[in-house]
Amino acid sequence: MTMTFEYTPAPESRAIVTIKPKYGHFISGKFVTGAKHFPTINPATEEVLSQIALGGKADVDAAVKAARKAYTNTWSKISGKERGKYLYRIARIMQERAREFAVLETLDNGKPIRESRDTDIPLAAAHFFYHAGWADKLEYAGLGTSPKPLGVAGQIIPWNFPLLMLAWKVAPALAAGNTVVLKPAESTPLTALLFAEVCQQAELPVGVVNIVTGDGSTGALIVNHPGIDKIAFTGSTEVGKIIARAVAPTNKSVTLELGGKAANIVFDDAPIDETVEGIVNGIFFNQGHVCCAGSRLLLQENIAEEVLHKLKNRMEKIRVGDPMDKNTDVGAINSKEQLAKIIELAAVGDSEGAERWSPACNLPSKGFWFAPTIFTGVTQAHRIAREEIFGPVLSVLTFRTPAEAIEKANNTPFGLSAGIWSEKGSRTLWASQQLRAGVIWANTFNKFDPTSPFGGYKESGWGREGGRHGLSAYLKGVSNE
Ligand code: NAI
Ligand code: MG
Repeated sequence: MTMTFEYTPAPESRAIVTIKPKYGHFISGKFVTGAKHFPTINPATEEVLSQIALGGKADVDAAVKAARKAYTNTWSKISGKERGKYLYRIARIMQERAREFAVLETLDNGKPIRESRDTDIPLAAAHFFYHAGWADKLEYAGLGTSPKPLGVAGQIIPWNFPLLMLAWKVAPALAAGNTVVLKPAESTPLTALLFAEVCQQAELPVGVVNIVTGDGSTGALIVNHPGIDKIAFTGSTEVGKIIARAVAPTNKSVTLELGGKAANIVFDDAPIDETVEGIVNGIFFNQGHVCCAGSRLLLQENIAEEVLHKLKNRMEKIRVGDPMDKNTDVGAINSKEQLAKIIELAAVGDSEGAERWSPACNLPSKGFWFAPTIFTGVTQAHRIAREEIFGPVLSVLTFRTPAEAIEKANNTPFGLSAGIWSEKGSRTLWASQQLRAGVIWANTFNKFDPTSPFGGYKESGWGREGGRHGLSAYLKGVSNE
């Protein structure tokens, strides 16, 4: 006889956060009223959380002016040691207010509280701690004896890891002596606005961090602003190409962190149970809204059946639902638009002849939801094997020889990440040398650390973020590769 134990609801309280009905921009250390507003919602319930200012030309001008003034008069004048003190202070306040950040992130984004609490927020604080340590040691970073900041950085971030992407951008910029104008994504601005309060609390000199909220039009104003020295962008390859064209005739430096279609390769000597956990983490972590997600599973043919059987059993146990519940594994899709894109590409998978499977799930009636899904019988020509779905959808392909695995893995316009599962060290090392991907995990997946550079080949982007390599993207006269 088997017994099933149900989980009773374990909801995190939202009482710790106070969401204002309306927010302005954060410019020169103060919140300033916006002209127009748009709503940000909780994608798990469709509840309107707040009205967010839509940044226009005057707002971006004011933010760039404030950032330039702070750069010239304060931030580029003080010592690295002083800058480091502010970064440490910000990191500590983020830790102290971690629960607030986690609850806000989950409400605004739809990701499970377990992930915002245990991954996003601790990693965001870790990025500030790590870069605080660099601020007074830049001359030892291997970038020459006296590396210099670039000036004012315009930073545009996506909605999948809102606070973490802010940390990836703001921490190295500030450590290197730059000031910033940052625009959060339109569907997830709330943690950036709480971060603005943290900057006030840390008594960061005014104008060092400016946050202008808005949509793509606001982002374009930042990209094209003549007062900006560097653009750092994370988001779609499509917008990345627009930005690359816009900055090409200018003197602006640029880093782009774009899409991916990572191969997660399972050789027949892999430890199967651990591999199944890694496959699940690779594609269903953060609803699959992950640029480096292991979205193409490549299984060696002789073990494919066994892996798929165990994978389906494991997927039956994934808990999809209320993101505020501490037991939830997969939360809500971030927006109606993203859900439409996932539904459309999955339908293409059906019509091109791949076979769809999902476990039975009770999806909530309100909000945006998509059950964890796998497609088998996928070929390299299928759109679901080539395009980024950016959702909880896994495309499964098979291979016979290691050489075939590599050829299939590299047959993509992207090259952000890859995974290798094998108990043989020599095979893992050989495969990792053949793969054209910026980050390669062996017998694990989706591991992040501020000390490790992250970035892609080909259409996955330009430059690296994190580690010593990422620092060089905010310093003059040194290459970032
Ligand atoms: P997006 O690239 O449009 O948005 C990312 C950020 O860029 C947002 O802050 C947005 O306001 C801003 N933006 C949009 N147009 C801009 C422009 N012309 N100039 C400057 N900034 C602009 O991404 P979106 O529409 O939210 O998602 C579409 C697809 O992009 C997803 O389905 C996914 O495939 C991919 N994506 C990849 C991400 C990654 O981490 N690599 C993150 C988000 C989306
Ligand atoms: Mg939202």
